[in-house]
This record gives sequence, structure tokens and C-alpha cells, in this order.
Amino acid sequence: MNILETSRLILREFSVEDVDALALVLSDQETMRFYPAPFDHAGVEQWIAKNIRRYTDDGYGLWAMVLKSTGELIGDCGLTVQHVDGVDEIEIGYHVRRDLWGQGLATEAARACRDYGFSRLPTERIISLIRLENLPSRRVAEKNGMTVWKEVMWADLQHLVYSIRREEAAENK
Ligand SMILES: CC(C)(COP(=O)(O)OP(=O)(O)OC[C@H]1O[C@@H](n2cnc3c(N)ncnc32)[C@H](O)[C@@H]1OP(=O)(O)O)[C@@H](O)C(=O)NCCC(=O)NCCS
Repeated sequence: MNILETSRLILREFSVEDVDALALVLSDQETMRFYPAPFDHAGVEQWIAKNIRRYTDDGYGLWAMVLKSTGELIGDCGLTVQHVDGVDEIEIGYHVRRDLWGQGLATEAARACRDYGFSRLPTERIISLIRLENLPSRRVAEKNGMTVWKEVMWADLQHLVYSIRREEAAENK
């Protein structure tokens, strides 16, 4: 099911058939350098299954990022619920296949997810959790209109919490 369309991308729900294409993203050592380890094949399968459960439980999750010009799955971007400092927050997350970095694709998808989140969900704030050292991801959050809100321990690692409020997003179209 397609969820969102931007000028270059379609975001659609993942299916179990996406494992091999997503593995080119999530099993890449360089792409996953801020994670404990790249995902193996079973890890990618579990990751897709978790997001398919999220579509049912929450109505949203991380979606497959498809390049319109080729039809290829080239990453993911979407909204997930994350428990931060005792509060459920809505987070925008993104991964892009390494050969396509630096073309503004993550920013294009993240901005669409931000606008989708504020138009469909009754939340006043959307966040992105980012490791301090992850400068490309921090830059995407900034281009998505977010600013650093606070620093937290999350998944046993120090993270910056970037955030944008509903009224700020309306001014940042
Ligand atoms: C983060 C990621 C999704 C960005 O994807 P992308 O499509 O290349 O992003 P964009 O092209 O929209 O923007 C990247 C920005 O980071 C900047 N950037 C790249 N490397 C950088 C570095 N080492 N230091 C500072 N900025 C950097 C780019 O110049 C660009 O900013 P600009 O438009 O102002 O020039 C991609 O790098 C990725 O998949 N990383 C690994 C997964 C990951 O860490 N995901 C986020 C988890 S929080």
C-alpha cells in the first residue's frame, strides 16, 4: 500500500519480499556504523516483520522508500513510537542506500513524513533520536526544521533528541 509520494520518491508499506533490497541498506557496514552492528539476513526479516506489526498496531511505521525513476527500494523512512524519558514520542527515522547519499533523498522523505504526522496524528511534537557523532543524520533533522531539544540515554547509548513542534512545522513548509 502506498502511503506518501514526493517528487522523486514513493513511501509504501514493507512486505516480506523486500528483504534482499533492504539488506543492501541495513546490512551495509558503513551505513550501520552508528548501530551496534549491521543486520544479518534474519535481522532484516525481523525488522520488516516488526514494521508490518506496527502498521496494524499503530497505523504507521517505517515505510519502504522507493525511487520513482527506477522502481527500486532504496531505503526506509517513516514514523514510529519511541519511549523517551518515560513519554511516548513519535519519531521520524531514515536510512538510505549508500550509493545514493547526498542527493537530498532522506530530507525529501523526512519532510513528507513530518507533514503526514502532523496532518494525521494528534501529536504536538515529532522527534528524531540521533547519535551525537551522526552528522549526516543531524543535518537531515536540521533540514527537516528540527532543533536539538535534549540529550538522553536511549538504547544504552547517548543520543540527541531533535524535535519540531506542530506550529513550527506549519511555518517550515
Ligand atoms: C542519514 C542518511 C539517511 C542521510 O541520507 P541522504 O539522502 O544522504 O541525506 P540528504 O542528502 O538529504 O542530506 C544529507 C546532509 O548531510 C550532509 N553530510 C553528509 N556527510 C556529512 C558529514 N560527515 N558531516 C556533516 N554533514 C554531512 C550532507 O552534505 C547533506 O547536507 P546538505 O544538503 O546541507 O549538504 C544517510 O547518510 C544514511 O542512511 N545514514 C546511515 C543510517 C543512519 O544513520 N540513519 C539515521 C539514524 S538516526
